[in-house]
Amino acid sequence: MSTPNSTSHDSKSGRRAALHERMPQMSDARSPEGDLMKGFSKLSRDERFARLIEMGALTEDDVKYLKSGGLRDFTLAESFIENVIGYFQLPLGVATNFVIDGRELVIPMAVEETSIIAAASKSAKWVRERGEIRTSTLGDLIIGQIQVAHVSSYESFAERVMSRRDEFVQLANRDVAHGLVARGGGVREISVRRLARPDGGDMAVVHVLADPCDAMGANIINQVCEYLKAPIETLTGERVTMCILSNLVDTKLTRAEVCLRGLEPDLARRIEEASLFAWVDPYRAATNNKGVMNGIDPILIATGNDWRAVEAGVHAYAVRDGQYRSITRWQVEGDELVGVFEAPIVVGTVGGVTRLHPTARMALEMLGVESAAELSRICAAVGLVQNLGALKALTTVGIIEGHMKLHIRNLTIGAGATEVETPIVQKRLEEILLLTKRISLQNAIEVLREIRTAARAGEASPGGALS
Ligand code: MEV
Repeated sequence: MSTPNSTSHDSKSGRRAALHERMPQMSDARSPEGDLMKGFSKLSRDERFARLIEMGALTEDDVKYLKSGGLRDFTLAESFIENVIGYFQLPLGVATNFVIDGRELVIPMAVEETSIIAAASKSAKWVRERGEIRTSTLGDLIIGQIQVAHVSSYESFAERVMSRRDEFVQLANRDVAHGLVARGGGVREISVRRLARPDGGDMAVVHVLADPCDAMGANIINQVCEYLKAPIETLTGERVTMCILSNLVDTKLTRAEVCLRGLEPDLARRIEEASLFAWVDPYRAATNNKGVMNGIDPILIATGNDWRAVEAGVHAYAVRDGQYRSITRWQVEGDELVGVFEAPIVVGTVGGVTRLHPTARMALEMLGVESAAELSRICAAVGLVQNLGALKALTTVGIIEGHMKLHIRNLTIGAGATEVETPIVQKRLEEILLLTKRISLQNAIEVLREIRTAARAGEASPGGALS
């Protein structure tokens, strides 16, 4: 089997060189890559491959691998999970037109929902023409927690742990996190928190902060916490209840900012109002944030990252002041519309399945990311642009037009249309949508029934109907 496993170092760096050389600091829609992206969605799959090779986003080996159906090696599946019976295949697509921090990117996205990739690409084009996307990270430490459910004296526990803090850090780095230390990371800090128990007593929680470098860090931080359990118990005489990482990583945040210029003032204001709605109302915030994650989860899946962890962290961060709020804000500033995303997006570019799963490795190479921080910044940018696209649609034409037009394809397949019948059913459904602003599977079934009845009647009469 030809897989990106077999992608040589040369071809890998060739791809990156191509991306970097061919896409230097471009924010110009008339750039060569902008041209290569032109009409991308209308191309056949083979034509898309050719364009992506030309851009340096894919290699010939990648194309062979994708054409062969992707990952089929069941020994890998057996090593990932238990009780394996197969692979679940999600569509893998690419979002186009993204220029993030001046770098042109093709974004691999694994997702089942119609219109996410189309909307991301369309909104990215809008941003590319009218403004820019800037990203950054704030902090680099992940959090592990060691719980003492009933602490007899919180003050004395905290004082003892903090008095040996440096020693614990050194021990953990020497005995557990030495690999991380060698890569420039490792355990950095220890702190203690007091939590009130419902029964009036105190709970103590030790926080262990570590820099996981380019790993997501779950395994290493869990090992560190479990390793520190015994010395903490010996030192304090208290009993540790459990140890686990926290997904609310407010010590390692990712920020993206989109700035758009020269928008029609009414449109900019409407987007600002829609954003305010999601800031003040948790019911709307949930849907807004789902739309943001529409842009992020598909990248996490494509790159083999733990999207449940990121989802948990983002939603927990969204409720940090006690009310669940939107994870994005859009505001009019002078003649600019400025959007900001800020939340923990803890990902890895090493460890987990990121480098074991050939499709995930290929997706990472497509992005040409050098670090986990870079990957998290791309996720934040795409999430914010996805949100922009949703807010623009919601405050102008509504969601149905863009979403349902594409959904018509699914309904047509769902109704059981053949290849010949498909364009006819789609056309009729588009007419119904235009007329009634509504469309359902029932419509598709009825349209198909009518077409078949007409075809049978046509066959009975000279000339035929569906010839
Ligand atoms: C649908 O998958 C996502 C949206 O509902 C997001 C939003 O409402 O902002 C369109």
